[in-house]
Amino acid sequence: LFDAVELAPADPILGLTEAYNADTNPNKVNLGVGVYLDEQGKLPLLECVHIAEQRLAEASKPKAYLPIDGMPAYRDAVRELVFGADSSALADKRVVTVESLGGTGALKVGADLLKQMNPSATVLLSDPSWENHRALFNRAGFRVDTYRYYDAEAKGIDFEGMLADLRLADAGTIVVLHACCHNPTGYDLVAEQWDQVIEVLRERNLVPFLDMAYQGFGFGLERDGAVVGRFVEAGLEFFLSTSFSKSLSLYGERIGSLSIVTADEDAAKRTLSQVKICIRTNYSNPATHGAAIVATVLADPELRATWERELGGMRERIKQLRTGLVQRLEARGITDMGFIAEQIGMFSYSGLTKAQMVELREKHGVYGTDTGRMCVAALNDGNLDTVADAIAAVR
Ligand code: LMR
Repeated sequence: LFDAVELAPADPILGLTEAYNADTNPNKVNLGVGVYLDEQGKLPLLECVHIAEQRLAEASKPKAYLPIDGMPAYRDAVRELVFGADSSALADKRVVTVESLGGTGALKVGADLLKQMNPSATVLLSDPSWENHRALFNRAGFRVDTYRYYDAEAKGIDFEGMLADLRLADAGTIVVLHACCHNPTGYDLVAEQWDQVIEVLRERNLVPFLDMAYQGFGFGLERDGAVVGRFVEAGLEFFLSTSFSKSLSLYGERIGSLSIVTADEDAAKRTLSQVKICIRTNYSNPATHGAAIVATVLADPELRATWERELGGMRERIKQLRTGLVQRLEARGITDMGFIAEQIGMFSYSGLTKAQMVELREKHGVYGTDTGRMCVAALNDGNLDTVADAIAAVR
């Protein structure tokens, strides 16, 4: 039965964690996966989450099934967080929001629905994009192509190229856009550029799919999420995936959301009925615990304030780590990597080649993706010198 089953390559991101775990180098550093680690190199349990979990444990409940679309209190809290309590789209009841298994689960459910709605559509990703975007949309049955995004020479965005490529897209093309903290490059569009992109999406009748996995890691929850309001104001129909993996350090809880902004309440009702079939035939209904944590934190003003403080702490520390790395590289004679301090979010797109990344890994135990992406959020005072030495050695 399995004779024809081929051995697949390791996942380009999570496969690095497997290799890192198997590495016996005592100085190894995992900058592969996008995970924030604290100064001790440990995954933090946020205080707001800890308190929420204590409350949940005290009010321990039987483990009933959740509705197919998730926990109502969670869905309401997420919608308010993402769209704003006074969003006209929410008031018009034209937004569908379902609980999802992390951001990836939201993307997959959205992709399945889109495939049903328009089987021959093409998906356009930024070049480059999160490694799993291509695999996920391919797996959902789509042809996947790219629009220009990163300008390696200029260390920034090839905005004219991006607009030109979007202008050439056929009506109905699905365009995946990173709402903030672009993964992997760390370069985001500014407000005026978003407006121009929105104009092209509208003119060309394209289908935007905003992926927002890092809200709060750029400039704060509100500013990072502002693009969602821009899309609503522009009157676009669009898909939006979000995740609390990073922002609440809830990686293993697999808790995220998919929202679909439709034209009116009737369209929302019909769309929700189809999304529920996508969920039911994949995993029936989502899990309780992560949703309960998020709903508890977001509903309690004190816990919410604690969260924003903790999120701000992670954000600011990442900025310091960026500067710390740049300074250490400069001390080793590398003066052309100052852009690391300008990039936004958890990652640095280092510009190192695949050969250099392999050497970093194999000779120095420093793990980043083959594309040159490094997770700055996993640096600390104890490993910054190791990483800077290793980069200096491979350059
Ligand atoms: C990443 O880009 O490293 C994260 O989003 C984790 C993942 O699932 O790939």
